[in-house]
Amino acid sequence: MESMAGAMSLLAPEQLTLLAALLRARLGVHFPPQSYPVLGRALATRFGGAELPPRYLDLVARDDAELERLVPLVTVGKTAFFREERHFQALSSLLPGLLARCRGEGRRLSIWSAGCSTGEEPWSIAMTAAEAGAVEGELELLASDLNPEAVSSAARGVFPARSLESLPPALAVRYFDPHDAEVRVKPCLRGLFDGAVTHNLVSPTCPRPASGAWDVVFCRNVMIYFDGPTTRSVLSRFLQVLAPGGWLFLGSAESLFQRFDGFELTETGGAFLYRRPGGAASGYTAAGATLRDHQGEA
Ligand SMILES: C[S@@+](CC[C@H](N)C(=O)[O-])C[C@H]1O[C@@H](n2cnc3c(N)ncnc32)[C@H](O)[C@@H]1O
Repeated sequence: MESMAGAMSLLAPEQLTLLAALLRARLGVHFPPQSYPVLGRALATRFGGAELPPRYLDLVARDDAELERLVPLVTVGKTAFFREERHFQALSSLLPGLLARCRGEGRRLSIWSAGCSTGEEPWSIAMTAAEAGAVEGELELLASDLNPEAVSSAARGVFPARSLESLPPALAVRYFDPHDAEVRVKPCLRGLFDGAVTHNLVSPTCPRPASGAWDVVFCRNVMIYFDGPTTRSVLSRFLQVLAPGGWLFLGSAESLFQRFDGFELTETGGAFLYRRPGGAASGYTAAGATLRDHQGEA
């Protein structure tokens, strides 16, 4: 196993501190000193163990292409279809009301999967919507991630066959075509997916749907890598781009308790969801959803 000294040898500790500050400012991702070996290993992979170019930190600071090369090496892309299944059960219970409301208003239901990694999350959302009766033209589903390689994988909808192991077999058959060691999303599901874009959640702007505000935002297991101020500024932006009464799905380990006050906490079938206050209640209420006091959050 690589020693910490070996992993860190490409940059002196004080330069690793500068690199961590740069990555925090530009990507939001927080590297405390105990994670510096992760940075050291990322640089070793980036340069195949060779010397760094001179003035490398200046390069990272001003060259977006160099930053892009580092992104997959310094971020965690772990994901799976229907990861944290309770969230998809909660979404499933919300969808009939949300779809009925949007049909009544003559607009598409808008869902943004922010920090989508390689796409298993947004395609799970598409399957959940299809199972709830959504048809082509009823959903505006956008996926985004900082990592351009992950974004292109999400957009392609082609996955290793083994990734379907976390999927109920009936859904695998209904929504994927096998192709050698891969599976491809079937055309019936593609009509529910608008595509994937590269987007940095730290940037001051957010994608917006045609209606102007998102009905649902998924941002799960992304802010867990951010520090407090970055998390709060991203959450403030979500509050601005969510419709009144719109829903925010965070990862189970990403409690807002004592971190951010702008959302109401609700529990739906054991899943904790956040909600932008306001908006018409009808059509936005999930069966069994209960309003929770932030003090009661685990
Ligand atoms: C652990 S994955 C989570 C994937 C998916 N949301 C899930 O829960 O299965 C974290 C993702 O966040 C992305 N990410 C990290 N920092 C980001 C940022 N500043 N803006 C957008 N995405 C970011 C990473 O590229 C990675 O794909």
